[in-house]
Amino acid sequence: MGKREAIAAFVDQPGGLIKALHRLQDQSGHNFLSPQDIELAAEVFDLPTASVWGTATFYSLFSMTPRGRHVIRVCESAPCHVVGSLNILSELEKHLGVQVGETTKDGCFTLEVASCLGVCGVAPAMMIDENIHGNLTPQSLAKILAGYA
Ligand code: FES
Repeated sequence: MGKREAIAAFVDQPGGLIKALHRLQDQSGHNFLSPQDIELAAEVFDLPTASVWGTATFYSLFSMTPRGRHVIRVCESAPCHVVGSLNILSELEKHLGVQVGETTKDGCFTLEVASCLGVCGVAPAMMIDENIHGNLTPQSLAKILAGYA
């Protein structure tokens, strides 16, 4: 199915633009929205390009630059911070060989930070794509990542 057809189905749905942008991002192969994707969405939804651009840049789940196949988002809000999210982050940086905001050379993972993921009860926590991983320890990370590689 082409991109245009894939997003046309969302035009009359509540929150349709967000769903369409998610679909375009998923189909990009690099987890991001290109300027062409933004223009296509504007055309299909009959909206000004600037307003689609504004929507896409408002939500942190959308990226305007290419990312890895899997996006890791480590929570850096206070409840996670006090139980060691910085250790988790530095272990991930070491394990993956990247800094926050970077993508591994094989294109598998992009490492990002995020505000509270809403699962403070299992702090420290991170999301990989749509999946929550909680009660993290530096020792638990390699096994979790292996499940995505
Ligand atoms: S503070 Fe980390 S999940 Fe809420």
